[in-house]
Amino acid sequence: MTWLLLKPLALLAAVSVSSLQHGANAAALTRRQCSSTLAEATVIANELQSKYYNTGTGQYNDGELWTDANTLEDLHNLMLATGNNDYGTVADGSYIGKAALNPNTDWASFLGGSNDDSQWVILALWKIADYKAARGLDNSAYMSSAAKIYDIIAGQWDDTCGGGVWWSTAHTYKNAITNELFLLTSASGYLRTKNQTYLDNANKEWAWLSASGMRGSNGLFNDGLDLTTCKNNGETAWTYNQAVVASGLGALYSATGDSSLLDQAQISLDATISSSLTDNNILRESCDNAAANTTVCDHDQQIFKGIWTKHMQYYLDTANDASRTSRYSGFLDSQYSAVIHYGKNAANDIGSVWYAPDAGGSQFQPEASTSGLAAIVAAAKYGSC
Ligand SMILES: *[C@@H]1O[C@H](CO)[C@@H](O)[C@H](O)[C@H]1NC(C)=O
Ligand SMILES: *[C@@H]1O[C@H](CO)[C@@H](O)[C@H](O)[C@H]1NC(C)=O
Repeated sequence: MTWLLLKPLALLAAVSVSSLQHGANAAALTRRQCSSTLAEATVIANELQSKYYNTGTGQYNDGELWTDANTLEDLHNLMLATGNNDYGTVADGSYIGKAALNPNTDWASFLGGSNDDSQWVILALWKIADYKAARGLDNSAYMSSAAKIYDIIAGQWDDTCGGGVWWSTAHTYKNAITNELFLLTSASGYLRTKNQTYLDNANKEWAWLSASGMRGSNGLFNDGLDLTTCKNNGETAWTYNQAVVASGLGALYSATGDSSLLDQAQISLDATISSSLTDNNILRESCDNAAANTTVCDHDQQIFKGIWTKHMQYYLDTANDASRTSRYSGFLDSQYSAVIHYGKNAANDIGSVWYAPDAGGSQFQPEASTSGLAAIVAAAKYGSC
């Protein structure tokens, strides 16, 4: 796999130890924030903003609410890494940001009953709040809006199939991503607020999710449950499911100190890498195909691989352990290399296919662009440099 190595290892700059509660005594962890990698990320983000962002509506052309939320999160994750303010005015002018700044926003109506989409919005609001806090700016509207959305989602838990949050307010489906997100928003909410309700919800969620049968014997979470049997429905194992659960488990580890949660996270992360979700060590969604005139990933599916890399980054932040990080550094390097060599076109837009050069099947959409951006930002922090 020598083609995957972009450049020799350069001197690595260590960044200070995090303030997380657990893991601080583990082997010293290097967070590189490689400046050449972040420079590449900035080129991609600039093209993303100029090609797709509509400053009038505050939305991305051909975007969706939940993918726009991820895109805002990715821009702020990048600014927290670079220390600059390149996209510092985007949040307050965005469709999501304007709703967060308005204390009268009717969130239930704004979010339209989708309990997974709503939690991507929570994650975006928190990341924007982190950025504002890092710049000494008031983030209270973002934090209080995130708390209001969280309460709506917590109210969507019931005893059907023994527990879990419904996928939507229509109460027709219980699935993995909604509940992995609830594990993450609950554990992360506790780390942010120290409010016990969040920690109780995180523990309740993992107890249910881990016993739900949605993770198959291959270590991969399938899409959801068959409500008539309350068993794994055997539907597609998407990449993002395998890492959002890991970032949730990492946050719960950080809250509790129970390192068996990190071992559980590694089951899903390692299963991604060793399964058909990779092709030649590069993430490949089941719908990805580089060839022309084939079935292609839809807008939702185009962002999944980048979410995998982003939540790998968040998992490593909370695991805060050099040996757990070194296990995945090379894989993050490989995704970065593939995004640049195979995903990127001459205009610095990133297509949906990473595993092979585009032969007409790679989709160029805002979701694919921000997916590639997230992979580069994750590699800047935890890959080599
Ligand atoms: C703790 O969080 C829950 C859920 O968001 C909320 O209802 C409750 O008011 C919070 N308690 C305090 C003391 O902030
Ligand atoms: C794909 O389909 C288009 C439109 O039907 C056609 O013009 C093109 O030649 C096809 N490309 C390949 C590689 O088959």
